[in-house]
Amino acid sequence: MNTLEIIDKIKTVKKEKKITLLAHYYQIPEIQDLADFIGDSLALSKKTKEVDSNMIVFCGVHFMAETAKILNPSKKVVVPVLDAGCSLADSCPADVFESFLKDHPDHIVVTYINSTAEIKAMSDLICTSGNAVQVIESLPKDVRIIFAPDKNLGSYINRLTGRNMVLWNGVCQVHDLLTDEIILKMKMENPDAFLIAHPECNQAVLQIADYIGSTNGMLKFIERSQHKKFIVATETGIIHQMKKIAPDKTFLVAPVDETCSCNDCPYMKMNNLENLYQCMVAEYPEIQIDKYIAERALIPIEKMLEISKMAGLI
Ligand code: 13P
Ligand code: SF4
Repeated sequence: MNTLEIIDKIKTVKKEKKITLLAHYYQIPEIQDLADFIGDSLALSKKTKEVDSNMIVFCGVHFMAETAKILNPSKKVVVPVLDAGCSLADSCPADVFESFLKDHPDHIVVTYINSTAEIKAMSDLICTSGNAVQVIESLPKDVRIIFAPDKNLGSYINRLTGRNMVLWNGVCQVHDLLTDEIILKMKMENPDAFLIAHPECNQAVLQIADYIGSTNGMLKFIERSQHKKFIVATETGIIHQMKKIAPDKTFLVAPVDETCSCNDCPYMKMNNLENLYQCMVAEYPEIQIDKYIAERALIPIEKMLEISKMAGLI
């Protein structure tokens, strides 16, 4: 089957089965264009709750589909590839995290959404890169906080809020590879370019960034900005939306090294048109979560959505 044929088949089966297709901005352009809704982790969480069709097909990574199932448990949530994981979620196994929490009694546990349902179930609050500041600032100044699993996002939030949260030692393998050295070289070659970065980047990259924001934050920023050229320090999938939103602007992907701009998330890019079509037809693989864990994990996710709503973020 060629690309157009498979896209047609996906559209047909989607319509026949009344499937809602949700996709993250890091998906391949063809999947982004097929989606009923495309967003960052926060927008996708909100949208999931509103889905009224019986089946959600989630094109992103496992923790995102799992969050969708937690938020809308009566729906069947199907993914193209069950083991499309995330280095952040993998860095934080439930048993090790449990002992870490025992070593830090009297701490409020704030967890980045890039984590498993088990970890969420052990947390007091969840956040995304789009609401981390508001979530942390909803807590009194004098409380002790554990932040997991992204130490880069955690350090950045510590800096912004003046907190001293205890950080779990996890990183995003895609963003953490970007270096200030290579990006500075690119900046020198493109003095008119504005550097925008995701807060999962390491501190050296964030120090030189002109704007730091979540995936949605970056999209809003480039739309409003007077600048015409941007160096984009995040996953490459976002460029597709950037070009759609601001076709007159130029976007340069911050390269990992001299030879390639290869900051594609290997997990996000496991999804393709073929396995998307197969999972829609087979309604498999399906996300399954232990009922107790799902109910426990829902509490901090709901609190996050409430804070985001009050802050006008969703
Ligand atoms: P967003 O919350 O910006 O969508 O980021 C998700 C993610 O996995 C970034 O690597
Ligand atoms: Fe996880 Fe990084 Fe991939 Fe996002 S880009 S899903 S944080 S590995």
